[in-house]
Amino acid sequence: MDRRDFLRGSLGGAFLASRAADSVAQIPGPPAPQTWDPGQVRHLLPTVSDTRILIKASFAKPLAGSPSLRIGASSFRGQMNDTEGTFWQFYATDLQPNRRYSLSLSASDGEPLCQPWDLATFPAPGMRPESFRALFFTCAGGPDTDPRGFLPTAIRNRMLRRALSFQPQAMVANGDHVYWDLHSPRVPPPRRDNTRLESFNRSALVFGDRNETVLKLAAGPQIVPVYGTDFRSTPVFFLQDDHDYFDNDEAWDEIVTFPPVWFQLELARATQRLYYPEFLPDENRPRGLPWGSIGNGADGVSESWGTLRFGRLAEVLLYDVRRTCTLSGPSAVYIDPEVERWLMARTESQDVFHLVHAPSNPFGWSAGKWMEWYPDVLNAFGKLTTAEPKPYWQAGWLKQHDRLVAAMAAMKNRIPITISGDLHAVAIGKILRAGKLNLEKNPIAAVLAGPIGTSAAGWPSAFRGVSSTPPAYLDVEEEVKPIEQHSFTIADFLSDRISLRFFKWDLKTQSPEAIDTLQPFHMAELARPV
Ligand SMILES: [Fe+2]
Repeated sequence: MDRRDFLRGSLGGAFLASRAADSVAQIPGPPAPQTWDPGQVRHLLPTVSDTRILIKASFAKPLAGSPSLRIGASSFRGQMNDTEGTFWQFYATDLQPNRRYSLSLSASDGEPLCQPWDLATFPAPGMRPESFRALFFTCAGGPDTDPRGFLPTAIRNRMLRRALSFQPQAMVANGDHVYWDLHSPRVPPPRRDNTRLESFNRSALVFGDRNETVLKLAAGPQIVPVYGTDFRSTPVFFLQDDHDYFDNDEAWDEIVTFPPVWFQLELARATQRLYYPEFLPDENRPRGLPWGSIGNGADGVSESWGTLRFGRLAEVLLYDVRRTCTLSGPSAVYIDPEVERWLMARTESQDVFHLVHAPSNPFGWSAGKWMEWYPDVLNAFGKLTTAEPKPYWQAGWLKQHDRLVAAMAAMKNRIPITISGDLHAVAIGKILRAGKLNLEKNPIAAVLAGPIGTSAAGWPSAFRGVSSTPPAYLDVEEEVKPIEQHSFTIADFLSDRISLRFFKWDLKTQSPEAIDTLQPFHMAELARPV
């Protein structure tokens, strides 16, 4: 099966019926780098720690033998991650911290696969760098061929290139890198289109079956043209959220989409294995956390819990709220209890100046979705309310929220801050109260990082008829109320403060060219209490 068969045939046809056949055939390839020769490389996404580098890459055609990554005088043999030899990973260990290396990739016959490029490791945990700049965004997924009209991948790439022009030292993509929902629970069964669901053989393995082809055809066009090789020198941290498990978070009597069923868990894991790096080990993150030491040839690498540690200056804790969620009422959790213990220990630690909580769903605002921390639900009049129960929402989730919020607010000499994903809006506010917990003395800075790829129908006000608002459970002083535009956030960490710059671009009123000179529409400076 090739792409055209997939898109024209029954597998994709239902989604493309409204598109002209010739536009269907236009699956975008990777964006052309401006000053670097990618050779055979179609996409390349690296992550780093102080001593390790993990790279995921795909090539224009299958490679017959193992390619190698050369870093300085050391050579690291690639590991094939699919069954045809197109997708490879390179795992380098025992590197020097805070060092810019020259990297090169070569085929088994020694021929270069692309031009060499640079990548730096992070400072060691005890080092004291003066500054650290990171890019944050969410929801960059969605195929160009989807009739809902996600922002075209070429424009998403243009947004990311503008973000890269500010030279961030790391990128955090917080969830929803792939939109290929297998169920459409919002549509009742007689009218529901099961085409996507049935395109997979759900009792077969993902790899080595037609499933592998379908997965690549579904996910590749949402990732390769968005990132290409543009992040080759910028370490990336991709956290997974609901759509990365090939579904929206929705709960109805006939189907509850989380925790994920086995096959969809395997799709999420396979997407990560092929396209973007898992999280490198960290001395402070226990290796026994669930999915925290996957052993796919990359020792100690975690799928769902990530640490971005930049010397003594900054640490970002990344946690996926979908994978270990439970539905056990008052004792329910999003985060496995051992993972929560790790988050608590890091929040209580004194060994880093700035600590950011980056869960895959948002603190501070509600759009009435099922798997929010908060019980607010849309009523029959299209208003968010807590007067009615939210079906299948679990009281224990909010208790876990309160434990995390209390630990963040109790930090000494640190700004309590969360930069989260999932919500299709950019915003910043201060959480002053959470239930009975008064936070006025040490309010939590809550940031919605901003979405890159949202479709016209994907904004909360379009999808549910209401914009995101602070839930009834919280008092939030909104410095920037949620804005439903394509957007991203750049954070500068300095020893005494965090400076945030917020960028947005309006599809309705601005030209794509305007992206190239985008400036912050808002800035926020948070001082570290001393
Ligand atoms: Fe999400």
